[in-house]
Parts: sequence; structure tokens; C-alpha cells
Amino acid sequence: MSELTLSIPYIHHSANDVPGEIEILCLSAKQATSLSYAPYSNFHVGASARLASGKIIQGANMENAAYPQCLCAEAVLLGSLHSQYPGQRIEAIGIAVTTDHVLKGVAAPCGSCRQQLFEAENRQGAPIKLYLLGAEGDVYEFADMKSLLPFGFVL
Ligand code: THU
Repeated sequence: MSELTLSIPYIHHSANDVPGEIEILCLSAKQATSLSYAPYSNFHVGASARLASGKIIQGANMENAAYPQCLCAEAVLLGSLHSQYPGQRIEAIGIAVTTDHVLKGVAAPCGSCRQQLFEAENRQGAPIKLYLLGAEGDVYEFADMKSLLPFGFVL
């Protein structure tokens, strides 16, 4: 028997110490929260991807009165990237939230989104960086999606 431990490496940038390229993507994600349709949860999530070409694409969550039909911002973003920019490598994704809710910690992708981000990374065969914008303008940086989903499902 062996008892093993996994740890998740990440970098925390305080608000006054966020590198320019990361700040641009996080500001785009924050701006994308205005594209969210979230009248039921009032939890407006924005997600922005930077492609290898440098182009930045935005997505936001989209809710429905039939609650299980709600789409997360990350899923909306990945869907439009796949259909509108097929084969283009995603370098990084930033995620931000605008809400009246009191956030407990930083808003991080749900389990389902992690699985989708993980598969997008596997499909392109290159890491996708992830930046989460904190409430104070601070940023949590992850080197790739697999770090956020240990033992992710693969077929
Ligand atoms: N949501 C996202 O957009 N991404 C996540 O990773 C978690 C949750 C959305 C879904 C729903 O519209 C709202 O946030 C509250 O759960």
C-alpha cells in the first residue's frame, strides 16, 4: 500500500502585481460579465480566451427558467471557439464574476467546466493557462487545466 498526495501549483498575483498580458485577459473576462444572461442566479460569469493569434474571444453564462438548462460561461466560450475558430490553439482563459452575492473565495470553474476545459487542452495537445480574477483585482494563475482536474476522465 502507498499513500500518495497530489498538490495543485498556482501563482497568486496581488492586484498591483498582475503582469500586463494577464491583466488584459482578466479585464476582458470582467467586461464579458456584461454579456451574461443570469436573471435567476444574479451570478454573472465572464470568460475570455486568448488564441495563439493573439485574438481574444469572450463568452458568458446563459440561464433559462428551466434551471438545469443553464449554460456556464466556460461552456459557452468553448462552444463558440470550437465552431467559430476551429483548430486555433487556445493559449489562456481568464474568468471573472460580477454579482451581489458575497463570494467565498475566488470564483473557480465548476467540476463540469473543468472536465470540458481539460478535454479542450487534451484535444489541442498544449497547455491552456487559466487566470481567475479575485474580488480585490488579484489573480490566481494556473499553468494548465489538468492541474485543476486531477484524475480527469479520459476515454
Ligand atoms: N457558472 C458558470 O458560468 N461557470 C461555472 O464554472 C460555475 C457556474 C454559472 C452557471 C449559473 O448561470 C451561475 O453561474 C450560478 O451557478
